[in-house]
Amino acid sequence: MSANRQFRNLALIGFMGTGKSTVGRLVARQLGFAFLDTDERIEALAGKPIARIFTEDGEAAFRDLERRVVTDLSRLDGAVIATGGGLGANAQNLAQLKTHALVICLWATPEVIWRRVRRQTHRPLLQVPDPLARIRELLAERAAAYRQADVLVYSGLRQLREVARQVNCQFQYARQAARQ
Ligand code: S3P
Repeated sequence: MSANRQFRNLALIGFMGTGKSTVGRLVARQLGFAFLDTDERIEALAGKPIARIFTEDGEAAFRDLERRVVTDLSRLDGAVIATGGGLGANAQNLAQLKTHALVICLWATPEVIWRRVRRQTHRPLLQVPDPLARIRELLAERAAAYRQADVLVYSGLRQLREVARQVNCQFQYARQAARQ
């Protein structure tokens, strides 16, 4: 990690269902930071839910909106940012986040992810005949990019409260180290 980095904010990246929003909300409360979800920003910008952006405008349009939202985040100071699963898998987005935030990737196996998301229907990329196979495929495609995060935290098979505690510790540690 470069000594000149600024950790004004904390960004959580990682695959769908790894707990970014739940953990992000918990950590924001603990730190007294604002909480922000990039998917919510995108929905506000587009004026419709993510699923409709995908069906009406296509995935490329959604990825454009992600890039626009990421650029805007650099103005934040004291925020925990939960990102959509594909956002942090893009090298340019990740580089942008690293200009102002410590980037922590939450990690889980395809099986754990599937267990967490299988009853949900709002994720367009998983509306396929074999969602577990799709999760495996997408995770394999994105793994190398996710590993470019500053810190990897395993979020499977443990309470998200415990994951939040670890994320919080990593953030405090990075802020302290950056000040020395
Ligand atoms: C996506 C993940 C979703 C959402 C969109 C695309 C992805 O966010 O941004 O459906 O490409 O992995 P969550 O990770 O919050 O489910």
